[in-house]
Amino acid sequence: MLTSKLPKVGTTIFTQMSALAAEHGAINLSQGFPDFPAPERLRQALGKAAMAGRNQYPPMSGLPELREAVARQIQRFRDVVVDPVNEITIVPGATEGIFCAITAVVKTGDEVILLDPAYDSYAPAVALSGGLPVHVPLGGTGFKPDWGRIEAAITARTRLIVINSPHNPSGSVFTQADMKQLDHLAGHYDLLVCSDEVYEFLVFDDQRHYSVLEFPALRERSFAHFSFGKTFGVTGWKTGYCVAPPALTQELRKIHQYVAFVGVTPVQAALAQFMDEYPDYPATLAGFYQQKRDLFCQGLAASRFRFTPSTGSYFQVLDYSDITDTPDTRLCEQWTREIGVASIPMSVFYQEPPKKQQLRFCFAKADDTLQEAARRLCKI
Ligand SMILES: Cc1ncc(COP(=O)(O)O)c(C=O)c1O
Repeated sequence: MLTSKLPKVGTTIFTQMSALAAEHGAINLSQGFPDFPAPERLRQALGKAAMAGRNQYPPMSGLPELREAVARQIQRFRDVVVDPVNEITIVPGATEGIFCAITAVVKTGDEVILLDPAYDSYAPAVALSGGLPVHVPLGGTGFKPDWGRIEAAITARTRLIVINSPHNPSGSVFTQADMKQLDHLAGHYDLLVCSDEVYEFLVFDDQRHYSVLEFPALRERSFAHFSFGKTFGVTGWKTGYCVAPPALTQELRKIHQYVAFVGVTPVQAALAQFMDEYPDYPATLAGFYQQKRDLFCQGLAASRFRFTPSTGSYFQVLDYSDITDTPDTRLCEQWTREIGVASIPMSVFYQEPPKKQQLRFCFAKADDTLQEAARRLCKI
């Protein structure tokens, strides 16, 4: 008889809600992807790369020109020098990079601290490695890390902590003080860090995103994960990269070469060309997405939802406790069918969901889509 290695895992909520939205012709603010086109030059570069014959396996760690473009981007935006040969690995999506990093370092019985609400791919990767996820909630309404509580969860078996800033689903961003706390705890307890930074450029209201790469001691014990899909609006291209010191990179690549082996060649060539031509493109993202956040939030001003505007990522959490006490998983489906707006229930991001009534909405959508969605949500 087959016993599942992941008995509690079904099809992800993102797949389910997008399918339900399509079935009912609802506005899909559930899954995190843009509904507007990626930069034309980037799309042209992909066609050109394929037509120029760049269609066979790239090197296992990624095309050198793309790794060099990534190193230049990190230097330009963070003034940090990264070795493209030994510290950068191009992966088919940050999800694969995160899976490989966790698998590379977590052994049977190791404990891994996850901060709930957490992106759904972390816990299964820990479980498949024989590790034990230890869930620590982010605190209060602001979804801030409670470092006292995190420290209290550390034991002699704790091997790794997974962080995610800017944060999906809450939109919160670690402050410099948070990063210093992490630096201190990781050093003091000799922990490794898996830092999911896929929304690094989506930070609003003149705040700043801090990467583990900017803290020298922390960088030495961290895998930092990024997604071209999020930065360049091409989530379907499933391409990202992991930056880690050489010894960690070596271990990550041992897994990556047998999970996916490589990423997609013409996609990598196109990204390298675009990054070379438009090195300042990422600097446009904060303003672009902040305008969308503001449009969505202004549209909801007259609604019965309670919310604090998101400070990062492209997600907005709305509290519906003034409207109904229907559980969020049921309400998501109901409103997709009846109101015509699909969202994601916040409870799915927790091991033990708090008694809160919250939904997550993606605002990486065309302005008129956001306005129409807000109009429908105001009618509730
Ligand atoms: C927090 C977080 N990490 C990782 C990913 C996955 O990125 P990729 O599509 O590059 O695998 C996502 C995608 O939604 C995400 O929200």
